[in-house]
Amino acid sequence: MKKQLFIHGEWVSTPHAIPIHSVSTREDLASIAIASVEDVKRAISAAHSATVAMRALTSADRADILIQLAELFKKNRLKAAEIISKESAKPLKYALAEIDRTIETYRFSAEEAKRLTGEMIPMEASPNGRGRLAYTIREPIGVVAAITPFNFPQNLVAHKVGPAIAAGNSIVLKPATQTALSAIFLAELLEQTALPKGAFNLVTGSGPVIGDVFLESPEIRMITFTGSPEVGISLRNRASLKKVTLELGSNAGLIIDEGVDLDKIIDRIIMGAFSNQGQVCISLQRIYVMESIMEDFIVKCKKAIGTIKIGDPLDPTTELASMISEKEQQRALSWINEAIEEGAELITGGCIENNILLPTLVKNAASHTRVICEEIFAPVVTVNPITTIDEGIAAINDSDFGLQAGIFTKDIQTAFKASKSIQAGGVLINDVPTYRVDHMPYGGVKNSGTGREGVKYAMEDMTELKLIIWNQN
Ligand code: SIN
Repeated sequence: MKKQLFIHGEWVSTPHAIPIHSVSTREDLASIAIASVEDVKRAISAAHSATVAMRALTSADRADILIQLAELFKKNRLKAAEIISKESAKPLKYALAEIDRTIETYRFSAEEAKRLTGEMIPMEASPNGRGRLAYTIREPIGVVAAITPFNFPQNLVAHKVGPAIAAGNSIVLKPATQTALSAIFLAELLEQTALPKGAFNLVTGSGPVIGDVFLESPEIRMITFTGSPEVGISLRNRASLKKVTLELGSNAGLIIDEGVDLDKIIDRIIMGAFSNQGQVCISLQRIYVMESIMEDFIVKCKKAIGTIKIGDPLDPTTELASMISEKEQQRALSWINEAIEEGAELITGGCIENNILLPTLVKNAASHTRVICEEIFAPVVTVNPITTIDEGIAAINDSDFGLQAGIFTKDIQTAFKASKSIQAGGVLINDVPTYRVDHMPYGGVKNSGTGREGVKYAMEDMTELKLIIWNQN
C-alpha cells in the first residue's frame, strides 16, 4: 500500500517512500511518501492560495465544515480507531476513546468558530480618546504549519486542524511517520467536506527536511508543534517572527497526603501512569507519598498493576501493549536499570516480555536518575516518600518541566497551598495530572512549552488581533 501526499486537494505520488510496520505484530502496514523540498513548497503555496477562499467563508460556513468532519469521524469511529491501534499499538479501547475525543475537539472547534470575537475599547478613558469609537477583531493568521506526534495521532492533530479551520486559516500538516496513516485518513475525510481546495495539505517524510522548509517559508505565519523539547526549542529558536506554539514533554508529579482513601484513588493512579503505555505528555511519572502511608500505597499499587490486561492492542479488552518501537522500549528499560544501579528498588515490571515493556513501579529512585528528572514516556512510575507536603511540592518543582501536576489531600489549606506553589500549566486537586478534556487550556511552563492548546486558546494564537478606531470628531 503506497501512500501519497495530499496537496491542493490532489493525491500526489513521490519517488521515495518509507515502509512502516505494525509495532506489535511487525507486519508491513504501508509505504509512507517522502516529500521533497519542492513538494513541501508546493503544499505551502497551495495553502497560501487557499487563504483567500478561507477568508471568504463566514464563521457559520467554517462551523458547518467542522461539523461535517465530526460526523464523518462518528460514522467511521471503529475504522479510525483500528488504524491508530495498528500503527501505534494503542489498545483499541483507548483508540476508540481517542476518536470520541477527536469528534468532541472538532465539535468544540465548530462552536468556537461562532464565538470568535473582539472587544470594545473604552477610548474615552483617556482624554486623547475623546470622540473615538474603537473595537478589536480577530483575523486569520494565514498559513499554519502543524507538526504532530505519534501518541494521539488523531486528537493531537485535531487540536491543530480544528482551531486552524475555525479561525479561518489554511494548514500544512506534517504528522509523525509511524502514525501517518491516521493523518492520511483525516485527509480522506476532509476531502468529503466543503473545505476549500488547498486549505488542508498533508506532507509526510523527513521531519528535519520539512521543518526547515516551514521555517524558511515567509508564507508560513505560525508553527504549532507537539513533540520533544529538543526539536520544539530548536524550531522556536529559528522561527524569527513566526508565531510558535510548543506542547512539549513533562515528568508529571503527584503528591499523596495522609488521610486519603487509597482504595478510592488507585484506579486513577493506574490509568494515569499506564494508559497508552505511559506515552502521554502528562503521564504520571513521579509519585511523592507521605512516609506513613507509603508501604500501604505500594502494596495496593502493585496489586492493581497485576490486574492490568496486557496483550494484543486490537483485542478490545487489552489495556497495555507495546511501546511505539523496540528502540524506545530498550531506552526506557535502560533508564529503569540505571535507577536500580543507583539504589532504587524495583517493585514490579522492569523487563520486556513478548515485545511489551511490563508496567513498572520503582521505589526510592534518586532525584538525579533519568526515571525522575527526564520524561520517560513509557509505562514506568516512581514512588518516593515525603515527610511534609512542602517537601513534595519542592520535589515536583525540582524539574525542568511543568505541564500538569496533582495532589490528593483532604485538607483544603494544603490543596490551596499546592495549587499556588506548584510550577505547572495545570494543577489537579484530588486527581492525577493525567487529565484532559479538550476545551480546557492545556500547556506548560519551563521546558514543557509555550502557548496553550484547548480550542479557544489555540485560536487566540492562530489569529491576529486587529484594532479599528472610528474618529467621530
Ligand atoms: C499529550 O500527550 O500531550 C496529550 C495528552 C492528552 O491529550 O490527553
